[in-house]
Amino acid sequence: MNWTTEMRYAPIDWHSINKKIQNLQENPGLWRFNYHIQPPYGLLNDPNGFCYFNGQYHLFFQWFPAGPVHGLKHWYHVTSTDLATWHYQGLALSPNDSFSSHGVYSGGGYVINDHLHLYYTGNHRDEDGQRHSVQAETLLTKEGQFIDNIQPLIRQQPEGYTSHFRDPIVWQSHQHYYMIVGAQRQDLTGTALIYQSTTGNNWHLLDELHTQLPHNFGYMWECPDYFELDHYGVFIFSPQGLSQYPNIYQSGYLIGNQLALPDTHFQHQNFQELDFGFDFYAPQTTNTPDGKRVLIAWLGLPELHYPTDNEGWAHCLTLPRELRVINNQLKQFPIASLTSLRQNQHRDQVTITDDNLSIEHHKQAYELEITIDHQHCQQAGIQFFANGQHCELILSVDQSQLIIDRHQSQTPINEQYGTTRHINWPHAITTCRIFVDHSSIEIFVGDGDAVATSRVFPLDNQSELRLYSHNGTAHFDYTIYDLQSFNTQND
Ligand code: FRU
Repeated sequence: MNWTTEMRYAPIDWHSINKKIQNLQENPGLWRFNYHIQPPYGLLNDPNGFCYFNGQYHLFFQWFPAGPVHGLKHWYHVTSTDLATWHYQGLALSPNDSFSSHGVYSGGGYVINDHLHLYYTGNHRDEDGQRHSVQAETLLTKEGQFIDNIQPLIRQQPEGYTSHFRDPIVWQSHQHYYMIVGAQRQDLTGTALIYQSTTGNNWHLLDELHTQLPHNFGYMWECPDYFELDHYGVFIFSPQGLSQYPNIYQSGYLIGNQLALPDTHFQHQNFQELDFGFDFYAPQTTNTPDGKRVLIAWLGLPELHYPTDNEGWAHCLTLPRELRVINNQLKQFPIASLTSLRQNQHRDQVTITDDNLSIEHHKQAYELEITIDHQHCQQAGIQFFANGQHCELILSVDQSQLIIDRHQSQTPINEQYGTTRHINWPHAITTCRIFVDHSSIEIFVGDGDAVATSRVFPLDNQSELRLYSHNGTAHFDYTIYDLQSFNTQND
């Protein structure tokens, strides 16, 4: 279907969408997920409003309900008490005021005085098609009511910046509230702006976040997020226009000294990528009640096409990751509660010399915990969905790299951006936790050292796993756990 601009911004026909939702539930196809947050129909993109409030985690996602394309964005609401099992609560925010006539865009959540404040960008296009962005908020009460605050908090971008001005995140520090907003300078370079407020209602611009990155570090910074963890300041953002990386857009972080706000100068180490896979964007974080920092991202990227487009839906969110700072480095771990999804387990070990071994597993949703000793071979690897074609994790000893290789995948996706991704990995023994869920693979490597997140679209329900070694011997010690579903249509 060719989605014209008119179709993307037309009023939503809920009657027809509800029928499509039901139809998708009855005919989920091969690629719907068991334990990832997915849209009931249509397109999901960024996580929004992630916050612990009133005894549970609240999370929202950008949702275009009418089809698998970017159009009139809404917020869809999900909740959880443990970050592993999620409940779908339905539509939360709709673009029904004039300043968000073309979408309720992304933003964060923060609890102030018994309310969860949901900050978002109102996206409006005027008759000439010009974009206007305002920063606004809706409140969620403890009774589960959404209350619109009809007045925008910030009516437009400051002088010197374009209307690419969006994705507010709010936090509190020393009696003040701060808001960071993604922005584009008039000279078409990306940055982030920091606002301050004493009450949460009136906001005034402090300055740009002053980093030590080159002035021209991408043309737009989407989805900025700042937090403090283990005495460090961490700034996460999604800069667009960095051509040195393989994915169409990046998400990464700067780690350094805590900001001494209202001074917005940030001393930090080099920019680092958050994920080394094919499909990861727009991460957002929050605190748990016991002080842990958790990150969730969109398991997808803008402007690309995916095979489920033909089935009327697109994308999911990543699994939650716990962030920690160890030896000056940001580390990422699967959130601990995911072990509660484990059901059956199968443990084994095997030594393979110049050969391969197939493990028949017959499940499409599982965790593979594996330690591979590959010091006595040139290459070892794991092939997923290995029925003739496959997606593969290669441990290349001669290149000191881990390689995620989709070139033999059953359904090619976005091959114009290449078919391999690489992680520098000069180690002889590798431990991974790998989460497979019908059409996604998240590979957590080492002790929080690297993560690679990708979509893959196997063509049938065969889920053979294959282990191999080339030019020598590798030893594999592994456990496979089936993982329980919270998406009932896949049961
Ligand atoms: C990032 C993004 C945000 C914007 C939202 C719109 O994927 O472009 O900058 O708020 O998506 O859906």
